[in-house]
Amino acid sequence: MRKVFPLIVVLITLSVIGIIFIQMSWIDNAISLKRNQRIEALANATSEIKRSIHNLFLIKNGYINANEETRYYVLQSFTSQLLTGEDVRQSIDKAFTKYNIKEPFEYSVTNIFQIPIAASAGFSPNELGSSTDIPLTPENGYYVETLHLYIREDKNYILNSMGWMIGASVLFTTIIISAFALTIRTMFTQKKLSEIKSDFINNMTHELKTPLATISLAIDALTNEKVIHDTEKIRYYSGMIKDENKRMNKQVEKILQSARIERQDIKLNLQRINAHEVIDKVADNLALQIEEKQGTLNLKLGAKQYMIDADDVHFSNIIFNLLDNAIKYSKDKPVIQVETSTSNNMLAIKVKDNGIGMNKETQSRVFEKFYRAHTGNIHNVKGFGLGLSYVKAITEAHGGKVKVESTFGKGSTFTILLPIV
Ligand SMILES: Nc1ncnc2c1ncn2[C@@H]1O[C@H](COP(=O)(O)OP(=O)(O)O)[C@@H](O)[C@H]1O
Ligand SMILES: [Mg+2]
Repeated sequence: MRKVFPLIVVLITLSVIGIIFIQMSWIDNAISLKRNQRIEALANATSEIKRSIHNLFLIKNGYINANEETRYYVLQSFTSQLLTGEDVRQSIDKAFTKYNIKEPFEYSVTNIFQIPIAASAGFSPNELGSSTDIPLTPENGYYVETLHLYIREDKNYILNSMGWMIGASVLFTTIIISAFALTIRTMFTQKKLSEIKSDFINNMTHELKTPLATISLAIDALTNEKVIHDTEKIRYYSGMIKDENKRMNKQVEKILQSARIERQDIKLNLQRINAHEVIDKVADNLALQIEEKQGTLNLKLGAKQYMIDADDVHFSNIIFNLLDNAIKYSKDKPVIQVETSTSNNMLAIKVKDNGIGMNKETQSRVFEKFYRAHTGNIHNVKGFGLGLSYVKAITEAHGGKVKVESTFGKGSTFTILLPIV
């Protein structure tokens, strides 16, 4: 699977480029074919015009049914003077219709001195460009006359007649490329999701295995002959089972909670609470953990207004999650600071640590569900990657915002903004 994916991308990319290339050369071919067709049509039309004008001349002279030789002789004295303008126009019209030339035209007939002796109504020498010249007089004719045919050429003629083809090509190619891009994107998302899923299952197994193992050991001990009559020990082991059970419950609760957030049914029990008090309480609860790691927690609760409308339990959980992370993702001795301040009617709570920090990619993704940075060796820290997504969901449910600033290797600062009452 790992190798098939890039291979597919490369193959499809090559095919798309190939198709575009082939299509372009097809269109190019079609354009030159059209051009040649037109040149040929014009050549055919001119000889047709000449023939029909000569025939008209012969008709007027009464020689149309004469033999070849006589007709040749008569045509020696050809002059367009004998024909009307309408005669000439009709000859051209007929030939053009026959060879499918649709553009409007003008014409003039000049004598040997290049002086016009006849012309169409719309003929004005200055505005017309180059002409197709048809010598009307046969070889050895007495009067040298030339028919100048000015075709008002449609500059976009080729584009017009091929427009649908080019348009359709562009359209279908665009569709193919878009569909391809969409497929790749979906594949990437799918890949990411499956990674997240297996990560999560790994984490969960890991988190639940430890309490299960402890419980199993405790039960083994309980069934031991020596223990079974010792009330003191029974109490000890059943207490252990209870604790582990509680821990497992908490983990399961965490997962369920995130599922609930997913379904958007967070029920907030809003009360007016003192944010500073809650922070103090959570900090107290974590004091032991920080002490264990020989760290320090410094509270600088300087906000003048600290009453907020919030759900007590969820708000405590938010603070707990941020402090828990600050402790978990530290190098050795965590130095943590919680600061509060007010601005723009918002209470800002900053949790600052000197831990491992995050790179930009991690910073942009920490609030995603299940996301955990892959930090190589340091990643023996347990977790589901649910904490910060919970923090974000709850903060936003309170009408607040959460931000992160961090320098990789130096530390991180999480800021929560909540509306003051
Ligand atoms: N204070 C922090 N310092 C460095 N990295 C952090 C910090 N807080 C969170 N992270 C990163 O964000 C990820 C997600 O955090 P979180 O949602 O709380 O999940 P968990 O703690 O279960 O891994 C963590 O795995 C970690 O990589
Ligand atoms: Mg966490």
